[in-house]
Amino acid sequence: PVPHADLTLRADEPGAVINRNIYGHFAEHLGRCIYEGIWVGPDSPIPNTRGIRNDVVAALKQLQIPVLRWPGGCFADEYHWKDGIGPREKRPSMINTHWGRVVENNHFGTHEFMDLVEQLGCDAYICGNVGSGSVQEMMEWVEYLTSNADSPMANLRRANGRDTAWTVKYFGVGNESWGCGGNMTPEFYADNYRRYNTFVKNYQPDHPINRIACGANGADYNWTDVLMRQAAPLMNGLSLHYYTLPKDNWQHKGSATQFAEDEWFSTLQGSLRMDELVTRHSAIMDKYDAPKRVGLIVDEWGTWYDVEPNTNPGFLYQQNTLRDALVAALNFHIFQAHADRVAMANIAQTVNVLQAVLLTDGANMIRTPTYHVFEMYKVHQGATTLHLDLTSPDYTYGGQRIPAVSASASRDAAGNVHLSLVNTDPHEAVTVTCRLVGLAPHDIAGRVLTAPAMNAHNTFAQPEVVVPQPFHDATLSGENLTINLPSKSVVVLTL
Ligand code: AHR
Repeated sequence: PVPHADLTLRADEPGAVINRNIYGHFAEHLGRCIYEGIWVGPDSPIPNTRGIRNDVVAALKQLQIPVLRWPGGCFADEYHWKDGIGPREKRPSMINTHWGRVVENNHFGTHEFMDLVEQLGCDAYICGNVGSGSVQEMMEWVEYLTSNADSPMANLRRANGRDTAWTVKYFGVGNESWGCGGNMTPEFYADNYRRYNTFVKNYQPDHPINRIACGANGADYNWTDVLMRQAAPLMNGLSLHYYTLPKDNWQHKGSATQFAEDEWFSTLQGSLRMDELVTRHSAIMDKYDAPKRVGLIVDEWGTWYDVEPNTNPGFLYQQNTLRDALVAALNFHIFQAHADRVAMANIAQTVNVLQAVLLTDGANMIRTPTYHVFEMYKVHQGATTLHLDLTSPDYTYGGQRIPAVSASASRDAAGNVHLSLVNTDPHEAVTVTCRLVGLAPHDIAGRVLTAPAMNAHNTFAQPEVVVPQPFHDATLSGENLTINLPSKSVVVLTL
């Protein structure tokens, strides 16, 4: 018999609003993310607007990208922003010590990043340098970016061609300060946060900067406790970083494409750990911030595999398969289930690095399976979560089990209800019987993302192996909806 799941969708029980920033991105000066992936320079034969690739901007706009984090990552704590302003040919070079020790020519700097976010129509999330930068340097960057006064940094910006200040909605005070950002203890970082943050001034009363403190590495709950205890009133967000590795071994993480069912299972199981992390960090935040004013900002998440053969190990270039699509969908369901606390999430990283949504090869660009999940799920951005009761069969492998079915539902501003579903089982379809409460739809539209093989992926030669298809296997009968959820699939229905 076909495995069976029972679902009740309570359209009469609205929950928290899904912050659209949960669908955010992260682009670091790492490998071919910024250089080639986004920036090709104004003289490039690759079609561009002021040096920024047109194909990448168009593809990200289709996702309604809400927010972009930059310039790192580990790079942020060795980045000196004054090296990246003024005439490009005069900017000094540096060594990118974290990522391949390549020469960084600083051609993509503050003006280029702010041009990018303006082209994308998204919010800027800039990460400042606490690890190797001074308080003065950070203070001056904020002045340069956001002040319209007749003041030294605002005048320097004008001299570099930009009269009106930009708006920076989010500012991170350091990155991974427990590791590459300075190897600090939580107590030491909390004091540093308090000090640096004091000088992140608000120059635009109508657009105050949201300050994000560096948060925990995975399950480091003590970090969250110390930061919340010592600095919660001074922050708007606290971050969390968690990556999914198939083998949980940083030396041998596993291949992005050459894997069998053991790594399919362990990767999805590892992704589901995000729920425990968000639940436990949120519970600590609740102790200090019951009204949930401080957002949990999952500003680095995604899969991390061994790099593709014959590529620079410091460039973190990996392919992206149907497995990554399921990882993305499962994470979105988790973030949406915690929409009352999770205020932003930024996948690592936008182009050519880790779980990228886009891959480029010279002038060519392809969309990954992960891209298609962002596109299918954009209907959830800013929508209101609806309560679900789900009883799922297990997907069992090697004596371990995870739920086969994961689901999330929301109602958008126009009143449409969207139900997204994942079947983690690579072999068995699942029949989902869904009772609709407080909702009487007349028809259903749906799309499905799946493929015959677990490791199906898009290549430059075959860019459309994994793309969304119309889904017709959902039928309505009164208040009951029956969905035949194919094996290893992601489905989004509009009711
Ligand atoms: O995303 C790659 C790296 O992972 C980031 O630079 C760092 O913050 C994290 O360790």
